Amino acid sequence: MAKISRESAKERIEFLKRELERQNYNYYVLNSPAITDFEFDLLMGELQGLEKMYPEFATEDSPTRRVGSDLAPASSDTGFVQVAHRYPMLSLGNTYAKEELYEFDNRIRRSAGRPYSFSCELKFDGTAICLTYRRGRLLRALTRGDGTKGDDVTRNVVNIPAIPQFLHGDDIPEEFEIRGEIYMPFAAFDRLNAERAEAELEPFANPRNAASGSLKLQNPEEMRTRGLDCVLYHLLGENLPFKTHSEALEAAGRWGLPVSGYSRIADSIDEAVAYIDEWDTRRKTLPFATDGIVIKVNELDLQRQLGFTAKSPRWATAWKFKPEQALTPLLSVDYQVGRTGAVTPVANLEPVLLSGTVVKRASLHNKDQMDLLDIHIGDYVYVEKGGEIIPKITGVELSRRPADALRPVFPERCPDCGTPLVRDEDEARHYCPNGESCPVQIKGRFVHFAGRKAMDILAGDATVETLYSKGFIRTLPDLYTLTRDQLISLDGWQEKSADNFLASLEASKKVPFERVLYALGIRHIGEQTAKTLARHFGSIDALASASREDLLQVEDIGGTVADSIIAWFASESGRETVRRLREAGLRMEAGSDSMERLSNTLEGKTVVISGNFTISREAMKGLIEAHGGKNSGSVSGKTSWLLAGEKAGPEKLKKAEKLGVPVISETDFYGIIGKE
Ligand code: IVH
Repeated sequence: MAKISRESAKERIEFLKRELERQNYNYYVLNSPAITDFEFDLLMGELQGLEKMYPEFATEDSPTRRVGSDLAPASSDTGFVQVAHRYPMLSLGNTYAKEELYEFDNRIRRSAGRPYSFSCELKFDGTAICLTYRRGRLLRALTRGDGTKGDDVTRNVVNIPAIPQFLHGDDIPEEFEIRGEIYMPFAAFDRLNAERAEAELEPFANPRNAASGSLKLQNPEEMRTRGLDCVLYHLLGENLPFKTHSEALEAAGRWGLPVSGYSRIADSIDEAVAYIDEWDTRRKTLPFATDGIVIKVNELDLQRQLGFTAKSPRWATAWKFKPEQALTPLLSVDYQVGRTGAVTPVANLEPVLLSGTVVKRASLHNKDQMDLLDIHIGDYVYVEKGGEIIPKITGVELSRRPADALRPVFPERCPDCGTPLVRDEDEARHYCPNGESCPVQIKGRFVHFAGRKAMDILAGDATVETLYSKGFIRTLPDLYTLTRDQLISLDGWQEKSADNFLASLEASKKVPFERVLYALGIRHIGEQTAKTLARHFGSIDALASASREDLLQVEDIGGTVADSIIAWFASESGRETVRRLREAGLRMEAGSDSMERLSNTLEGKTVVISGNFTISREAMKGLIEAHGGKNSGSVSGKTSWLLAGEKAGPEKLKKAEKLGVPVISETDFYGIIGKE
């Protein structure tokens, strides 16, 4: 690192500390990183170098000495309880340079004075989790938090199929912790982002953000639809009988815990480097994201001897893969209008090969992103695949900017209907507010309404285009007034196609209410939100008359979504749409089919819990809901059971007795839901 003056170093250190804190917040709390991991690591490396050069400026609170925190800010009430970690949850030192791996090995050899080996493992790109098992049962799941305390996310974690709630085997320690990563495989990530795109919600930047965002969901039921997976890689506890890390993980695997099948023991650093080189290519065939390789000393006594720095163990390090990039000229920018009027800038690129596919288009997200990149037409731009559906532009090569390059001009008017665009205050997107008569939006609404996950009507882009251009359809209910003669009159339509189309319209009248609600295309109401709302309100009339406060009571509904619902139902066109669709025979009330659960055993039952159980209280609540029951905080005449654990509250027991509410034990409860 080049020598810089004390004065400039001080200034730069202050800047880097602030910048890294800000980026940590974007990454861990907002789940929306503004820079790539590689850029983050460069800034961190620069700060480390400067602090080494001028140790007097290296403070305790420096991001080089603390792990980034995923804890929600104190001002927000997320409903997650913070719990102290029994052992601090640290991070790993990382490197992009092979020499540093050899230095890592040299440091170990100097302390060891005896042979040792390495456990080489994939570095799974997800979000860290710490599970505690007591007497073979999952007691608690904590996020990493700030390393000393984490958020209790047990009620969400019980909905991840890979994580067992009960273990099997006769050598399970009385209590232990096991740490690992919750991640979202590419297939689930693509599905989720496609759904979000359809609902015109901001897509998750990568599978890791999608995983950590999901883990903090307020609605545990939604967790089950997210397709999360888990891998565990670090066992901790008092007086465990294992000599090596790999032996401990093997045992964990026998007890039923998900451990990686891709790890390998290396007897030297050269063998570890060979593992890295092998996986640098092979990782591209994996169905989930990895961002590097972790190398750990395998012998536990040597691990203990080497110990920790403030932030990471001395017995492990991470090799990080560099993201694959391509550099290509930006030809032009298109502005696409979606069905809810959101305008998205999309870059047209000189075709270029990136990770095996030809890339021609890349997302620019919104105007802020374009300004941030200071992008010009003709610029050579860096393109990366962050696991997104279309790649993104991550930077501009300023040294190759043509002298006459001009900034693209973000349109002030809708490219389709010419209406001046508006920008919502708390959103980065621009919208065309002419929802009623902007042709792209109208056609987009029909395509969405007819979609497979909505009303499942035999009409795609082409049919909608034809029906629209003939003037047969303008608002959604018009579909239900189409006649056989009108359809047969269309170019290329025969009696058979007309009949099939009419039959699909008829069948759509049986589609459950939650899908009808989704089909309406209310801004910010995706498939999952529609389900939640249908379940909560039960009918379109109840939803239409809900106040903002009522809506905010619903899990995962925030101000933006609530306002969008209120505006839709307040509009003349919204009300008229509901009236005519109801008249056409569509379902406007939830039936029993809108529930998706582990079982319905507790349907209609309200359970109050009190005291401690072999699993945490949060996990118990999650279990009740997963089997269709309701959890309530106080005993009343409506309570079905008081589920009493150790040290159950005497007040609650007394009240249950007085009201004749049956008191059941934890074992009784498992009997009811059919668990061992
Ligand atoms: S071991 C004491 N092993 O990477 C540190 N971590 O950048 C124990 N990670 O915080 C961590 N795969 O969230 C370990 N095979 C693996 C891993 C792994 C992913 C994550 C973990 C850690 C982060 C460090």
